[in-house]
Amino acid sequence: MRALVLAGGSGTRLRPITLAMPKQLIPVGGRPVVFHCLDNIRAAGITEVGIVVGEWEDVIREAVGDGSAFGLRVTYLRQDAPRGLAHAVLIARDFLGDDDFVLYLGDNVLAGGIGELVAEFATVGPDAQLAVGKVSDVSEYGIATLHAERRVTGVQEKPQSSTSDLAVIGVYLFGPRIHEAVRAVDVSARGELEITDAIQWLISTGHDVRGSIYEGYWKDTGNADDLLECNRTLLAPLEPRVDGSVDAASELSGPVLISAGARILGSEIHGPAIVGPGSVVRDSTLGPFTTVGAGCLLEGACLDESIVLDGASVRQVHGVSRLLIGGAYGAPAGSPGAGGLSLVLGDNRVPVAHR
Ligand code: DAU
Repeated sequence: MRALVLAGGSGTRLRPITLAMPKQLIPVGGRPVVFHCLDNIRAAGITEVGIVVGEWEDVIREAVGDGSAFGLRVTYLRQDAPRGLAHAVLIARDFLGDDDFVLYLGDNVLAGGIGELVAEFATVGPDAQLAVGKVSDVSEYGIATLHAERRVTGVQEKPQSSTSDLAVIGVYLFGPRIHEAVRAVDVSARGELEITDAIQWLISTGHDVRGSIYEGYWKDTGNADDLLECNRTLLAPLEPRVDGSVDAASELSGPVLISAGARILGSEIHGPAIVGPGSVVRDSTLGPFTTVGAGCLLEGACLDESIVLDGASVRQVHGVSRLLIGGAYGAPAGSPGAGGLSLVLGDNRVPVAHR
């Protein structure tokens, strides 16, 4: 069995962060989202992986390399534009051959791994098997209707309403029939070749499509709220460890990971929280549920439930919760004010979302 990881796309829901980096490399629980996918693929016993990339190809290649750090052999497949998930399968035809494969959306986190899904597929042997999970808003997902023996009788991409509340959660297992299906579908109303339409084609032409209810935690990290919630969940079991330096005027409480070369000066850090390699945190209060990437500078910052991306600097920002920030941001002392604020800040220093 092979794996096809989708790490192209445009990441519009995470702008302006995604003007500076691909969404699949945003860290959750201190590790880029797509690394969690690759870990799960390896843990399921798969070693041959194709990664579909778009305009961020160089950055993703640099982060993942040849895959050996994950115990994988990685082949990069360039998609000329985000033409849809079925298009990504179409361009991977030569890489996939007639092998069974797992299609893994590179912005989805399945914290319980995919081993059981892969084992079930190997035992049952359907043409397609979809991991599904309950959602409250069907209009944000592909929705599957399941009947006896977990047969899927219909799938619909982002319907306004549905009798089913089971979303397709970003991991699909396919036999070689899917190649015929992705060739058969037309471009959708939103201008993409939809994998949902290809799966519906399999169903309509009498093929065996099954659904597996995923019992573990999963999240599509395609928007800031979901990313921050996922970060919170993945940080919960953090093991405390101090490899960097913490001065006598600082205090750590709860599970806190201070990476090598990081310096904590006159600050309070409440775990679970991670400070990445080489970062400096001065006169600040951080956490809980906060990760600071590598090479960051935080001065006079008071943040919780936040993700500070590699190389970011944050100065004099107080009482801020749920911040996703890249680049550099400074504010006059005391602003932006009361807690409960939620910001997405990018490299252009413009807050694009708050509440
Ligand atoms: O998260 C689960 C949902 O993912 C499913 O329920 C939907 O049925 C499915 O269509 C998908 O919806 P999204 O709108 O979340 O897909 P998104 O555009 O975010 O793309 C998913 C991943 O695939 C992401 O890592 C980007 C990558 N991608 C996307 C497109 C459109 C590509 O590599 N190439 C593409 O052409």
